Amino acid sequence: PVLVVDYGAQYAQLIARRVREAQVYSEVVPHTASVSEMLDRNPSAIILSGGPSSVYADQAPSVDPALFEAGVPVFGICYGFQVMAQALGGTVEHTGTREFGRTELDVSGGHLHEELPARHPVWMSHGDCVTKAPEGFDVTARSEGAPVAGFENVAAGFAGVQYHPEVAHSPHGQEVLRRFLQDVAGIRPQWTTSSIVDDQVARIRAEIGDGHAICGLSGGVDSAVAAALVQRAIGDRLTCVFVDHGLLRAGERTQVERDFVAATGVNLVTVDAREQFLDALAGVSDPEEKRKIIGREFIRVFESAARDLKDKGDAEFLVQGTLYPDVVESGGGAGTSNIKSHHNVGGLPDDLQFSLVEPLRLLFKDEVRRVGLELGLPETIVHRQPFPGPGLGIRIIGEVTADRLETLRAADAIAREELSAAGLDREIWQCPVVLLADVRSVGVQGDGRTYGHPVVLRPVSSEDAMTADWTRLPYDVLERISTRITNEVAEVNRVVLDVTSKPPGTIEWE
Ligand code: XMP
Repeated sequence: PVLVVDYGAQYAQLIARRVREAQVYSEVVPHTASVSEMLDRNPSAIILSGGPSSVYADQAPSVDPALFEAGVPVFGICYGFQVMAQALGGTVEHTGTREFGRTELDVSGGHLHEELPARHPVWMSHGDCVTKAPEGFDVTARSEGAPVAGFENVAAGFAGVQYHPEVAHSPHGQEVLRRFLQDVAGIRPQWTTSSIVDDQVARIRAEIGDGHAICGLSGGVDSAVAAALVQRAIGDRLTCVFVDHGLLRAGERTQVERDFVAATGVNLVTVDAREQFLDALAGVSDPEEKRKIIGREFIRVFESAARDLKDKGDAEFLVQGTLYPDVVESGGGAGTSNIKSHHNVGGLPDDLQFSLVEPLRLLFKDEVRRVGLELGLPETIVHRQPFPGPGLGIRIIGEVTADRLETLRAADAIAREELSAAGLDREIWQCPVVLLADVRSVGVQGDGRTYGHPVVLRPVSSEDAMTADWTRLPYDVLERISTRITNEVAEVNRVVLDVTSKPPGTIEWE
């Protein structure tokens, strides 16, 4: 693999993704990893990422000079560029000139920037700068605040840039990264979606042998792709369990029971637990209490299904859809086993004793989607917007009842239909529809007075759900949604729009 050394900013994972976009497999390692630990991974190149520090700060992470004697190509980015310069005998200075944001870069000669426009924009973010390149290096890029903004020593396999080639604001960045990987490091691009599938299938076969596995399907993309991969690897020896807790949206059960099964041919057990959940939720309006009840019942149902399968000898392995960012963030790289317990079907008691199979633990979300498509899963599953585990249970403000679920399901289906028809699915992150079941307002429909409930539309745009902004939906789309909901859903006589960003509002109302 190409190892991306994480100096503690947000950049390392993005760099790793960009390397993979150049069809080269990459992994993130912490900067605390020793050179020999890195070399044990047999890296084809090492990339030193950007970081928040100044090389002059106390306890600034540095790089062991031994790294440059191992015969492995190295690329330094931003902070990584500076530690590299320093380790190889160049000069890094605190000149007082800072560059932050879009900056014009002048390039001349060299491999990395060859054939790119002589002057082009890049994204900078630095206080210190390299003022003298190490011996044997050509300086091939400069900017106003960085006399050495790019250098390379192709014979030695070393290069670096002061700017951030991995961000979209550096329009030629991906090209520069690709040139390093292919031309300087001599790595052939082989990491493609079909190679990912082949690799993973081989790994899963090796792991499960002739054993049996079980996988909980949530309807979401991660568990679907994980299941489809394992199915491809071990066929009939995988059983998927889908819990219908009655808090699903219109069509979701069909999507799993019909579309997913049609695409994969997987063995599916659906557990109809609608009554059990409604009974457990009766009389409860407190959001936290609802969440706890739903989580608890879910585990009960799944556990009993898992126990049945285990008793029949049909499962020793439990498939989970853990993704690479979770693995990196919990401190584990590939080859280590330090994984946080996952929330999908997590919380299973120890006495069930499954071995975990995590076929997505090396993949980023966009790769998971591509693998899903490669495996023939329908777009509706692969590009599905996020939907919370507790489902509609946390979108009914007040007690959850069968009638209220029916009402919300109908309103939600209309909103989704109209958003899809307007081609807005990829533009919005998600659009919860919330039923204010304890609120009533007066309306007039036909000649009669009504006393119904409002629903809230909560369209949001987001990168990662940590922050979000409300989406400016076109008025005509809002109008169609509002007209249809108030005409077609008897209990609803008012549609309101939530125009709160996150923070301060969360995406869901509960
Ligand atoms: P909030 O409401 O915290 O939601 O802004 C952030 C994102 O997480 C989803 N969400 C959940 N997903 N189980 C899940 O799997 C949950 O309990 C849960 N609660 C919120 C929410 O839909 C949004 O995408």
